[in-house]
Amino acid sequence: MENGAARTAPPVIVAIDGPSGTGKSSTSKAVAAQLGLSYLDTGAQYRAITWWMVTNGIDIDDPTAIAAVAGKPEIVSGTDPAHPTITVDGVDVAGPIRTQEVTSKVSAVSAVPEVRATITELQRTLAAAAPAGIVVEGRDIGTTVLPDADLKIFLTASPEARAARRSGELKGADVHATREALIKRDAADSSRKTSPLAKADDAVEVDTTDLTLAQVIECVVTLVEEKRAAK
Ligand code: DC
Repeated sequence: MENGAARTAPPVIVAIDGPSGTGKSSTSKAVAAQLGLSYLDTGAQYRAITWWMVTNGIDIDDPTAIAAVAGKPEIVSGTDPAHPTITVDGVDVAGPIRTQEVTSKVSAVSAVPEVRATITELQRTLAAAAPAGIVVEGRDIGTTVLPDADLKIFLTASPEARAARRSGELKGADVHATREALIKRDAADSSRKTSPLAKADDAVEVDTTDLTLAQVIECVVTLVEEKRAAK
């Protein structure tokens, strides 16, 4: 759709949830860019707060210690899909939040209710401020953060396909080890008490195992356009 049309249409809110390696980020960014919408990677926010906890010596195994400082870091997300940014207290953390150390600790930090409350508020504020609407990707967007989203998508893929994609992103990391790590993180994210990874009842499930990225993007763009036309 052209930008002019996007500006005059009412804002559209799209929630894209699912486990790691299903193509959430690539799909969400591309859909937002094609439709002139903002884009928010909520996993990056949880990684950013985890990075801050690690950097400040907070004991990751102590939920009470994490809860006590959950409101301290100032996390700012830039929502341009062509150039998403993330800073913590003014520091660009786009690189540091992707390290193995942060990846292995993010499930523990993001399970703390005070962390989720702080980050959820940020997410709702950003979604409400997006002029044309926004694509928000995560684990609990359709169920908890934006339950009134215009469109909810739940992306899935087989563990093998997800591990192969993640290993490719990590430039040749061992597929077997990646698969085990993914399964462990998904289990933690799905079983936590506060807003676990879950498909909303009214979400459209898209199994991406045998689809190319271009096919997934096309599918989601079509669904958003249908919702927009009906608004
Ligand atoms: O999408 P990702 O792999 O960058 O997400 C990192 C972690 O953040 C993931 O293991 C679980 C957590 N997360 C969450 O709890 N809720 C979200 N909405 C997004 C991510």
